[in-house]
Amino acid sequence: MRGGAHAVALSWLACGLGVCALVATQVQAADEKGLVLRLETLAGKSDTRKSRTVTLHVPKGQSPSPFLRSSDFTARWEGKLLLEKRSRLVFHLEGTGEAKLRIDDDLIVSAIGTPSESKRLSSGEHDIVVEYQPPVGDDATLRLLWEGRDFSKEPIDPEVFRHDGSDAALEGSTALRRGRSLVAQKRCGSCHSSGTEELMPELLLKGPSLDGIGGRLRHGWLTRWILDPRKVRPQSHMPAVFRGEGAEEKAAHVAAYLSAGSDPRGADPLPEKERVEKGGAIFRQQNCISCHTLAETGEGQRIGLGGVGMKFHPEALAKFLQDPAKFHQGTRMPAFGFDEEEALSVASFLRSLGAKTDSQPLKGDASKGRVLAQSAGCFNCHEREGEQKESLTEIGLFDLTSSECSEVGYELSSEMAAELRAFLTAESGQDSLAQFIPAEYAERQYQELRCNACHTRDGEDSLRSNFLEEVSRLGTSDGKVDEAKPAGLAGPPPLDHLGFKLKLDWRTRLFAGEIQPKVRRWLPDRMPAFHSRSSNLALGFSYAAGRSGLDRSPKVLDTEKVGVGRAMTGVEAGLSCGACHSIGDKAAIAVFEGEGPNLRASGERLTPDYFHLWMNDPPRVWPGTIMPKYALDGKTPLTQYYDGDSRKQFEAILQYLRSLSKNQNNEKNP
Ligand code: HEC
Ligand code: HEC
Ligand code: HEC
Ligand code: HEC
Ligand code: HEC
Repeated sequence: MRGGAHAVALSWLACGLGVCALVATQVQAADEKGLVLRLETLAGKSDTRKSRTVTLHVPKGQSPSPFLRSSDFTARWEGKLLLEKRSRLVFHLEGTGEAKLRIDDDLIVSAIGTPSESKRLSSGEHDIVVEYQPPVGDDATLRLLWEGRDFSKEPIDPEVFRHDGSDAALEGSTALRRGRSLVAQKRCGSCHSSGTEELMPELLLKGPSLDGIGGRLRHGWLTRWILDPRKVRPQSHMPAVFRGEGAEEKAAHVAAYLSAGSDPRGADPLPEKERVEKGGAIFRQQNCISCHTLAETGEGQRIGLGGVGMKFHPEALAKFLQDPAKFHQGTRMPAFGFDEEEALSVASFLRSLGAKTDSQPLKGDASKGRVLAQSAGCFNCHEREGEQKESLTEIGLFDLTSSECSEVGYELSSEMAAELRAFLTAESGQDSLAQFIPAEYAERQYQELRCNACHTRDGEDSLRSNFLEEVSRLGTSDGKVDEAKPAGLAGPPPLDHLGFKLKLDWRTRLFAGEIQPKVRRWLPDRMPAFHSRSSNLALGFSYAAGRSGLDRSPKVLDTEKVGVGRAMTGVEAGLSCGACHSIGDKAAIAVFEGEGPNLRASGERLTPDYFHLWMNDPPRVWPGTIMPKYALDGKTPLTQYYDGDSRKQFEAILQYLRSLSKNQNNEKNP
């Protein structure tokens, strides 16, 4: 085993990143990214999951896992630490309770708050283990940090961790987690009662509303969709409810019922050329292509938009783009905050694609359709005025002995079926639906909502780079995208420090689409809003980073420091930060290579920990940034303030920036 692991490490060092990952998986499975986290309760129950890095935050009295029902637990992280070169390192554990760090079986850190001695580690792979015992009657919090000769204390970059992906306990609990997600996505519980008060956030979001649906969606499309949702959209989670003989007529009856009373429109206006072009430019700029294709059916996880002209009435399409969640609270399509003209343009662009006319639908009978819809369970998953859930079966969710529903068709793959079964028969399955574990939720949603469509994290590229060619084929030219911008700055910010860069309150408002105007005015793209998930997501990312999210910075500012900070940022006796940054109402004066955010906003939105991390060494935090590194060995060139002590100087700058806030005490952001 050890010899094999060594071979992996060597091949890693010998070649470049992407290729080596490949070689490594061929040799053996012991090198997936991240660590294994093993949790165990006093009662002897255990759970295992993957962990990006060593961070944990579990509020007092809460459970660390959906599959454990206790707040009395211990945690243990295991895996490998992979160093590219020989390094001298100091390790730190921060948090509450008791914790130990072992590297290659040596005890390196024996308690929280006591840094290790400076330790020399050779290049290559090292065994790493962190053991944690939370405090009694307090929040459980833990973070592992390190510092080296050429960098100050920082959270360890998750890229250096590896673990054995074929660990049996990990495989089992991963299948369980997938099964749990599937039950939520497929909404089995809307007909088979779970017998629990469900708190898993995915289960609380409503499915699409069928109120007035005939006024938004076309009759022909409704018929096709009801008959076989996955034929229209292979990624759909809605089951086919009518199967076998007579299915087509039944679908037609239900479509007739849903469309009844909505006024049949005349010919739709043709999309205007100018709008189509403008819409195409927006489509390119906003990176829609990372989640969509322009063909009728999608590809992989990407959803095809070539057929939306056949689905939506034109006006409804523009309205959808302005507020995708209006009739579907649980939608994963984020809101880009389009104004009416932008939405009309994007809608025109989409309508100019692909097929325009649908086959003539079968005529249906609305009153038959209503009865059918009720008995088929449409209103168990969808709301519609005047309709209600039906009790279709007595068989409870956790009484099911198979994953193949005899009533409706999901066409589960054999892998999905196995995961569902594993979950439905697991002892802890039922209870887990009543649990909300914010950190796990946030990581799950990071994947589900495809944050990586636009953002990089842990050295992984964003998806946008995969589709550059597809985008260039779109053809619409647009002068606003500045190709000459340095690569690192042309796109959205990296999310490596997602859980502690921004204050919780600011992050929540960002996800809710409430940060207006946007921070980086020079970027053509926008951060879209994830309205119905904003609070849970924001909180979950804090917990995942081992943080409570509470703002503990002192409320009262120190006027002397504010004065020093002002001078330090200035031109005459300072570092001329205003060259690249606007500061309050003063515009940046020399943004030749790129611009930074208005520093007033930075004072309001950044946590003090992140502010110091950034100021210490900007290019280490965001490789390729043009912001210079001012501090060397704890000193800056400005010796007239605090003898050049960079930590004190940066603290003064932070106090000054916070003083610029419209709300001086910063208790609540304006
Ligand atoms: C098990 C739950 C479930 C059942 C039962 C179900 N649906 Fe759905 N339906 C969904 C989900 C989830 C979606 C969201 C789209 C997706 O997953 O692709 C959806 C989407 C739709 C849409 C498209 C809405 C939009 O705005 O895009 C229509 C129309 C619809 N369903 C009608 C029906 C009708 C009619 C029935 C009964 C014949 C039915 N559904 C039964 C879960 C269900
Ligand atoms: C991060 C991923 C993501 C991005 C970026 C994104 N979408 Fe979507 N979009 C989705 C998902 C997922 C759906 C399917 C709805 C659902 O699952 O709830 C969707 C649905 C849609 C639909 C409805 C399709 C249908 O058949 O009902 C349209 C139209 C649409 N998106 C347009 C856009 C446009 C235009 C952009 C760029 C401005 C965009 N999307 C960007 C994820 C995304
Ligand atoms: C629209 C409602 C509905 C949804 C959604 C639904 N089922 Fe069913 N299911 C039924 C009905 C009705 C029966 C027939 C039960 C009976 O005979 O009483 C059934 C039967 C079954 C059976 C056979 C029961 C047995 O023990 O023989 C299994 C297994 C099953 N469902 C699994 C699932 C799974 C797994 C899901 C989610 C992926 C699911 N069902 C979603 C309505 C539904
Ligand atoms: C369609 C592209 C897109 C998607 C999808 C997207 N983002 Fe963003 N995000 C952006 C852009 C562009 C910005 C920069 C906005 C600004 O500063 O004005 C941004 C900014 C952010 C910021 C602020 C970072 C900072 O330093 O200011 C966070 C945090 C963030 N996104 C998190 C997420 C998360 C979490 C998801 C998934 C739930 C996500 N983003 C999905 C484009 C996207
Ligand atoms: C040469 C241009 C340049 C100079 C000079 C400069 N910065 Fe920056 N700064 C940047 C860029 C570029 C970014 C990152 C942009 C981004 O996050 O999109 C940045 C980011 C920041 C951030 C994080 C902003 C946030 O809200 O996310 C802070 C804080 C900051 N700079 C402070 C300063 C201070 C204080 C000075 C003067 C001591 C300074 N900068 C000098 C270019 C500069």
